[in-house]
Amino acid sequence: MKKLCLLGLFVTLASQSVLADNPPAPIENKDAFISNLMKQMTLQEKIGQLRLISIGPEMPREMIRKEIAAGNIGGTFNSITRDENRPMQDAAMRSRLKIPMFFAYDVIHGHRTIFPIPLALASSWDMDAIYRSGRIAAKEAAADSIDITFAPMVDISRDPRWGRTSEGFGEDTYLVSRIAGVMVKAFQGSGANAADSIMASVKHFALYGAVEGGRDYNTVDMSPVKMYQDYLPPYRAAIDAGAGGVMVALNSINGIPATANTWLMNDLLRKEWGFKGLAVSDHGAIFELIKHGVARDGREAAKLAIKAGIDMSMNDSLYGKELPGLLKAGEIEQSDIDNAVREVLAAKYDMGLFKEPYLRIGKAEDDPADVYADSRMHRADARDVARRSLVLLENRNQTLPLKKTAKIALVGPLAKAPIDMMGSWAAAGRPALSVTVYDGMARALGGESKLIYARGANITGDKKVLDYLNFLNFDAPEVVDDPRPAQVLIDEAVKAAKEADVVVAAVGESRGMSHESSSRTELNIPASQRELIKALKTTGKPLVLVLMNGRPLSLLEEKQQADAILETWFSGTEGGNAIADVLFGDYNPSGKLPITFPRSVGQIPTYYNHLSIGRPFTPGKPGNYTSQYFDDTTGPLYPFGYGLSYTTFSLSDMALSSTTLNKTGKLDASITLENTGERDGETVVQLYIQDVTGSIIRPVKELKNFRKVMLKAGEKKVIHFDITEDDLKFFNAQLKYAAEPGKFNVQIGLDSQDVKQQSFELL
Ligand code: NOJ
Repeated sequence: MKKLCLLGLFVTLASQSVLADNPPAPIENKDAFISNLMKQMTLQEKIGQLRLISIGPEMPREMIRKEIAAGNIGGTFNSITRDENRPMQDAAMRSRLKIPMFFAYDVIHGHRTIFPIPLALASSWDMDAIYRSGRIAAKEAAADSIDITFAPMVDISRDPRWGRTSEGFGEDTYLVSRIAGVMVKAFQGSGANAADSIMASVKHFALYGAVEGGRDYNTVDMSPVKMYQDYLPPYRAAIDAGAGGVMVALNSINGIPATANTWLMNDLLRKEWGFKGLAVSDHGAIFELIKHGVARDGREAAKLAIKAGIDMSMNDSLYGKELPGLLKAGEIEQSDIDNAVREVLAAKYDMGLFKEPYLRIGKAEDDPADVYADSRMHRADARDVARRSLVLLENRNQTLPLKKTAKIALVGPLAKAPIDMMGSWAAAGRPALSVTVYDGMARALGGESKLIYARGANITGDKKVLDYLNFLNFDAPEVVDDPRPAQVLIDEAVKAAKEADVVVAAVGESRGMSHESSSRTELNIPASQRELIKALKTTGKPLVLVLMNGRPLSLLEEKQQADAILETWFSGTEGGNAIADVLFGDYNPSGKLPITFPRSVGQIPTYYNHLSIGRPFTPGKPGNYTSQYFDDTTGPLYPFGYGLSYTTFSLSDMALSSTTLNKTGKLDASITLENTGERDGETVVQLYIQDVTGSIIRPVKELKNFRKVMLKAGEKKVIHFDITEDDLKFFNAQLKYAAEPGKFNVQIGLDSQDVKQQSFELL
């Protein structure tokens, strides 16, 4: 799925002779060291630092090395082994000023060991598990000579038609912001300069998740209050956690592309937020300013981008070519270039590369003989994190957990799908190392004899869709298609079902369906698989759906048909084992949805924390002239925060320590959580607050805190949450962040809908 790009190397500029007459500054003093280095750099060398080049199989490596040695490239991405990167760093060390290269990669949810996709990680609501996944990804990537990742991706997404929903952490500002901070800390570890850390560059700045109609790369038009309140905080959280980089979004914002947006990049990011790190354009985004229609040609595009504060040009074809002429003509200032160069050099400094250019490349004799060796993997962690991310959506008649003595028919196109287990943006993951659902279940059963397998259906019966999904995978199509007629596949699966005690159907999306440039108009499971489910239902055997998908699906029919539904997303290298752990009850599921599941695509957007309106629909009291769709039930299929367990939990009424709060005070909201079932289990206690009356309309509720709690069967625990004025602040019409006195409702629940409520007054 990886996109390859053309090199676009620029013609080497005539080298200017500059007297290297500045005495070296001590490396300990970052600012002096960089200023001193910059004094020695020619214009050509400076511009070279602003170029980030993609390495692909078609790249003539010798040419790249030549360009690096000439000082014409600042960093590369997509080369991911030490022996690939070492010769490039060697070339940099042969350059006049020996400025080290950095090596970047999309380490999104794992590196060699693939963890669940970000949306799944968010479903765990488990900050320790999420941290673990990021730390391991960083260690593995750093051990392979990667210095910086284009992650975390913290775009709030409220429109599941958008394929990149899979790559983010869901719809909620608070939850995504918490995870943003955790991921940055995990990637950067004890510091971005540590040998086992990689620098984080948060993306896509900004608002990429709000593209119109969920169509990738589209426009974003948004009120300032909504931006500040809902969409910007996760990027800010990543920056406050120390993210060294920012990747700029491909979309426009209120008519100005992010890549040319001086308000976004200078006023907000640098001046208001104090960001001092590296701003990298997205792939080819500077060139796209022409297509956006804000630049008449490449020259103007380069000018707009450098003026806006885009330090590095990804897959550069324009900075190298146009900046010298623009400077000469006085259309840009030397300081425009210098500011960008300073930030690139500072990022390299922060990655520890000036002190030790081979920090993560190491010595050739220490290179791993096999980068995919199992000893380099972190399978136990991947399995544990994966099982924490699975969400039990339905479980009628305690269909799950399955008995290991049962005869099980395992069907569906995703039962044996090693590529799909990894999900999209699977970095250096290798499908052959994935544990599929079939593998995991067979292992749990001690062999294959109790599993009756039949494929049952193809991912899709639509040839056009299939071709789209296999686009770019010319050699080996990623989505395998069984050429037999659909009915033959179904009959085989029905036969298997009839021979079994229970049917497990692994169905949903192929990983490419939830990816960059994979927007959908429907959120159904594809028709070929729905036919399979329908046929399985007629057998009367208990039916368990193991869903694999990277976005909320509309599952209206399946909710009726299935006896149990386990949402597994794309759960990574160890996904099959994790799924088997849950299916057989060796792990009690505890995941909660980080995003609302709509009943139909027509309901979108369906996020839980929408603004109050004048004519709200009241559940149970249908009537005209309230806000609803008259042709369907109002409300989501599964709400934000929802997820079942094999045990049951109950919440007592909530107690508030006071009915008033003053600006410097603190309230305690407490509630007793009880495990009322027969198994030990974990659940997520969620705190929501509603600001009932404000100077502007406020959301019906907002998540403000949560706690993941483990209770033994029959155990009770009092859970306390502090509430202070800070939890009540919001951006008002003047974009001032402050709390307003008045009434607040506090709600605590195990999902966003079914809650206990109390109120207090902010004085
Ligand atoms: C384009 C994607 O939008 C971005 O997220 C990614 O980091 C770059 N390509 C590099 O692969």
